[in-house]
Amino acid sequence: MSLIKNFPHILHGGDYNPDQWLHAPEVIDEDFRLMKVAGCNTFSIGIFSWSVLEPEEGRYDFSFLDRIMDRMAAAGQNVILATPTGARPFWMGTKYEEVRRVNRLGLREITKDRHNHCWTSPIFREKTLAINTALAARYGKHPALKLWHISNEYHGECLCPLCLSAFHEWLRQRYQTLEALNLAWWSSFWSHRFTAWEQINPADETIDGLALDWARFVSWQVRDFFEFEAAPLRQNAPGVPMLTNLMGFFEGVDYHALAPSLDFVAEDSYPRYNSANPIIVRDATQIGLKFDMLRCLKGEARPWFLIESCVDGANTWASIKLKDPGMHHLEMFQALAHGAEGTLYFQWRKGRGGREKYHGSVVGHNHVEETRVFQEVSALSKREQKLEAIIGSQNRAEVALLFDWESRWAYRNSMGVPQRTDGAALIEHATAQYAPFWRRGVTVDVLSSSHDFSKYKLVLIPRLFLLKPGFAARLRDYVEQGGTVVMTTLSGMVNESNLCWTDGCPGDGLEALAGVWMEEVDVVENAEIQNITALEGNSLGLSGTWPTGYVCTVLHARTATPLLQYSSGWKSGTPAATVNICGSGQLYFLGADLAEEAAEAFYGALIRGLQLPGFLPEQSPLPPGVTAQCRIKDGQQYWFLLNFSGAAQQIAVPSGAVDAESRQAAGALATLAPWEARVLQIPG
Ligand code: GLA
Repeated sequence: MSLIKNFPHILHGGDYNPDQWLHAPEVIDEDFRLMKVAGCNTFSIGIFSWSVLEPEEGRYDFSFLDRIMDRMAAAGQNVILATPTGARPFWMGTKYEEVRRVNRLGLREITKDRHNHCWTSPIFREKTLAINTALAARYGKHPALKLWHISNEYHGECLCPLCLSAFHEWLRQRYQTLEALNLAWWSSFWSHRFTAWEQINPADETIDGLALDWARFVSWQVRDFFEFEAAPLRQNAPGVPMLTNLMGFFEGVDYHALAPSLDFVAEDSYPRYNSANPIIVRDATQIGLKFDMLRCLKGEARPWFLIESCVDGANTWASIKLKDPGMHHLEMFQALAHGAEGTLYFQWRKGRGGREKYHGSVVGHNHVEETRVFQEVSALSKREQKLEAIIGSQNRAEVALLFDWESRWAYRNSMGVPQRTDGAALIEHATAQYAPFWRRGVTVDVLSSSHDFSKYKLVLIPRLFLLKPGFAARLRDYVEQGGTVVMTTLSGMVNESNLCWTDGCPGDGLEALAGVWMEEVDVVENAEIQNITALEGNSLGLSGTWPTGYVCTVLHARTATPLLQYSSGWKSGTPAATVNICGSGQLYFLGADLAEEAAEAFYGALIRGLQLPGFLPEQSPLPPGVTAQCRIKDGQQYWFLLNFSGAAQQIAVPSGAVDAESRQAAGALATLAPWEARVLQIPG
């Protein structure tokens, strides 16, 4: 399956906003010339064009889009045509106040900015339906139209009366009675018992069950709005696949809940890749985790692509530090390495004015073809053309890592858990478990706990705080039938309403599966160091003493066998990590966070024990800062070697490897320059 039917090429291009240049048609002529020179083939158009397409209420003017679509088709370019709801015209916001959002203080926003429409407003929906229908009717069969780009970066909440009453209705459907809701939200605490649905307001952040359900509701609204936008497109332009641009681990929308509506996953990715970033390797590892999540968002590996990225680093909202030469290709190859089949940018050309006039772009304000950026983009087109054999290849994983948005929301809304206020902490914890696999080139699929994980050899469960109904039973079956699980600190703490389990910890029957009881949660603070030591004769053959990470729980082994124990402080001699055999499988429980060295030792032993294939023989790590990711097709492995170390690196290469671009034999040692990305093709 390719992203665009009958187009077996890597997509390369970006957001193109010719509507900003209608007064200067020569600029648009120049754009079409430059697109060819740069070797780009795909452009997102019309994302913020509403005020041009409907300059007055009910009066449409498609003349600019007609011209651009026709020129795109004539130039052999693919268009990802946007619905324009990412920003609305001023006439709408000023005439109809209900289209504007209300914030947590109950204040309605003024008409400004973008990405801020009310999800419920009948008027906004009416206007959306009308323009989407008109776009689909006009361009549904246009030869340039290849994909629909629904809106832009859906996010945000609205607490207007319309949204609140929609929330109350959603709660009624979920709980049926207020009694059931009060119980689920533990609302006798602080006298928060509700006696009428209308009393419920998510602006009150002190009720953790309410906060969790509000987050679910907002995600539901996003999907509902997506479906609302999609309906007239499906009807008037059948068969054109749809997507919306996602933002990785963005906390506000459960992308697993949105995924069934998406035909393809498309990501806006803006990592801080520059040599002044002291944690670039950690960032790159986390980006790898994110890409693995995107690839599997629909529960099975599917082609996906970068629909936005920043070509020269100058991203006016995240960082203005430039990427070093070479780093752009490394960043784009990283996406391809994890299954992407397209690398697009925000933005093709920067405007002369507006908030993003200095934001990175392929086409700058002057001397375009002489710029480093334009030349790097043109060179990337050539490299991507040489790599077209990867289209349709797959990243095959024997390891799954489970990550849930609901768990993250429950955690964030639970006072008294470590680092709850640091939105990134859970992702960093997941990254720390993922890193040993990344360093060895062992492929990992990142799934939701609702997905089917039964086919994997190993399932990683990093801090899965909330257990969804039925999950524990599925996990038990998986282990009993021979699966291996690693469950880390603070997993299995609450149910789907954010209520603590009382049958044990981890709860919902998992205590028996883990063979441990987690009694108390401690953290290391200030200059304190808490050590852990491998127990003699442990089944993973671990030996050594290491400092823990931040969380160190108090654990009691019931049926489980301790592997690591605390070796300093008052917990000395008590278990820090255990393994429990159940049926033909086993569950490893980490009661202490493992700092990098301990994680390397633990996961390294596991990877070897389970014979999970990596790049190097013996499943040993690649040089620091280097990863290898594998895509497979027709008996050929395409190994992407990515060097984030900032130094030249040499890697031993299996015999028979050829450089996938030059087609030259790779030799026994592959050399990677600083920030270099290469692809080796190896039979197998
Ligand atoms: C987001 C938006 C784009 C643009 C870029 C800038 O991803 O979707 O419209 O604002 O950020 O980085």
